[in-house]
Amino acid sequence: MKKLIIGNFKMNDNLLTIYEYKNRIIENELLKNLQFCKLILCPAFPYLSFFNNRNNFSLGAQNCSHLNEKSSTGEVSAMMLREFGCEYVIIGHSERRLKLNENSEQITGKIKQALKVGLKIILCIGDMEYNSDTEKNIGEAIDFVLDQCAASLNSIEQQLLKNITLAYEPVWAIGSGIVPNSDYIKRMVAALKQNFPECLVCYGGSANSENVQDILHLCDGILFGKTSLDVDQILKIISELEK
Ligand code: PGA
Repeated sequence: MKKLIIGNFKMNDNLLTIYEYKNRIIENELLKNLQFCKLILCPAFPYLSFFNNRNNFSLGAQNCSHLNEKSSTGEVSAMMLREFGCEYVIIGHSERRLKLNENSEQITGKIKQALKVGLKIILCIGDMEYNSDTEKNIGEAIDFVLDQCAASLNSIEQQLLKNITLAYEPVWAIGSGIVPNSDYIKRMVAALKQNFPECLVCYGGSANSENVQDILHLCDGILFGKTSLDVDQILKIISELEK
């Protein structure tokens, strides 16, 4: 199973930087024949069409609508993402849950819309607070994250769960430079795999070229935010994994 290297560009970049980024990726020889990892890039909606030469990476979006009606101004449907070549969609990122009050019902709706058109889903889940009492914290964190998964996945048919990758992203690790220790990640991944054996489980939150090796052997892949904006960093990470 190839490890997933997922780049979540968030609302970063502009026309020029994204164009240069795309060219560096498309021209890269190493990416054409990856043995150990799979690269998934998730730019903002307006830039999806730039990434139309996808011989050496997969394309993902950062969100899709839970709504079915065409009269939904400002929304982007899962079908539109398919038309623009997306294979994946990130759903339920904590920044959307917190800043836009995205709730489990909407997240389930998005998952259903995405599954209907054959998109694969990267479902973000994660505990909110770090507690220095690690033993207490990991127990509570696991309960919280399993509840979050259940709230979004309970009404999804079992045979479709294989299309869902769980991205465990502790909210306190995102953009903070703090990464949970190996034991913490290992126990969280084990709990997720035990409860959702059909799903792959990735980690996200302050992952970079320095800590990638330590994290990657604990899970099925990594969701990079800030690090993914630097194409040199992403290519360095991939070339080291492919050695
Ligand atoms: P970060 O973000 O790698 O910048 O911490 C990860 C994410 O939000 O997916």
